[in-house]
Amino acid sequence: MQKRLLGIHGFKVSEVGLGCWQLGADWGESLSQTTSFNILNEAVKNGITFFDTADVYGNGKSETTIGEFLKTTETPIRVATKFGRAANAFPDKYTKAILRESVEASIERLDVESLDLLQLHCIPIQYLKDGAIFDWLRELKAEGLIKHFGASVETVEEGLICLEQPGLLSLQVIFNIFRQKLVTELLPQAQAKGVGIIVRLPLASGLLSGKFTKDTTFSENDHRNYNKNGEAFNVGETFAGLPFQTGIDLVETIKTNILPSSLTMVQLALRWLLDHPAVSSIIPGASAPNQVISNAAVSSLESLSAETHHALTQLYNTQIHNQIRGGY
Ligand SMILES: NC(=O)c1ccc[n+]([C@@H]2O[C@H](COP(=O)([O-])OP(=O)(O)OC[C@H]3O[C@@H](n4cnc5c(N)ncnc54)[C@H](OP(=O)(O)O)[C@@H]3O)[C@@H](O)[C@H]2O)c1
Repeated sequence: MQKRLLGIHGFKVSEVGLGCWQLGADWGESLSQTTSFNILNEAVKNGITFFDTADVYGNGKSETTIGEFLKTTETPIRVATKFGRAANAFPDKYTKAILRESVEASIERLDVESLDLLQLHCIPIQYLKDGAIFDWLRELKAEGLIKHFGASVETVEEGLICLEQPGLLSLQVIFNIFRQKLVTELLPQAQAKGVGIIVRLPLASGLLSGKFTKDTTFSENDHRNYNKNGEAFNVGETFAGLPFQTGIDLVETIKTNILPSSLTMVQLALRWLLDHPAVSSIIPGASAPNQVISNAAVSSLESLSAETHHALTQLYNTQIHNQIRGGY
């Protein structure tokens, strides 16, 4: 597993990390503690040393599970968590006291002395523009409750606002073959400022794994059912903002016209991301241990050819860009 620096003033992370939303909620049948531990174990066995979670995932369950897992491994793991989408704060109760309370609760659930990285969790843009919340984060950092802070954002505009904040370690963004808008402006600016990039939805909620068909259905409590058109939160967080059927057609086009015969769709999608030098770590989520194994293995693959990159850029510009819904 290759490592990369997360932000010039940050720490090394495995270039393939693990998204831990699945350990909490919103993905259908909730994962048993055994499955969650198997996923985390397999991640560490395969060189993954960077986990992404949030206070709100399963109302603390994802963080608690990670906290329990950390006691069972000697491998040093960096955990990034988030604040700002739980009911104590979202959508309009952002105060210094609530931020502090939430950080202390995350520290307790993860059972650590301080948080490696606290990310603002897609908070409304007016709080990013106002900037007071970043002052509070700098205070928490000075006190040692958090080692670093970053922001998870939904749009290029939000990302650019955050980049102006001194001390910001990282941006977490939705970036994948279906969602390439940030290549031209946001990624180069982040790189120029030494801000790390954490990539969520690298597989567009599983669409880019190529395993779904038009007939695939998702259970009632899976966001790929209840948020498929943005009914519950930003549509971009589900299938990267594409209508499901459109995504299926696009995957077929990629399989037929672009996918090199030596690669699987998962390998193409994840390797494409790792080929961008601005990226620090991609954090595919997993519902089963075998997914983690194949995702981690992408780190040892060769870069894609210039022709493959060119074909995927062309496809995005001509057939995908205009179909993305939601703030972007
Ligand atoms: N606002 C935010 O900050 C925010 C929002 C969303 C996500 N995130 C973070 O980003 C992480 C990643 O995003 P995501 O989980 O939403 O989307 P993702 O990584 O694009 O998709 C994850 C899904 O893809 C499927 N998958 C993964 N590896 C696979 C493999 N090797 N083969 C076949 N299928 C595979 C699984 O689907 P099945 O479940 O169908 O098996 C898995 O649940 C999350 O876990 C979370 O930590 C943050």
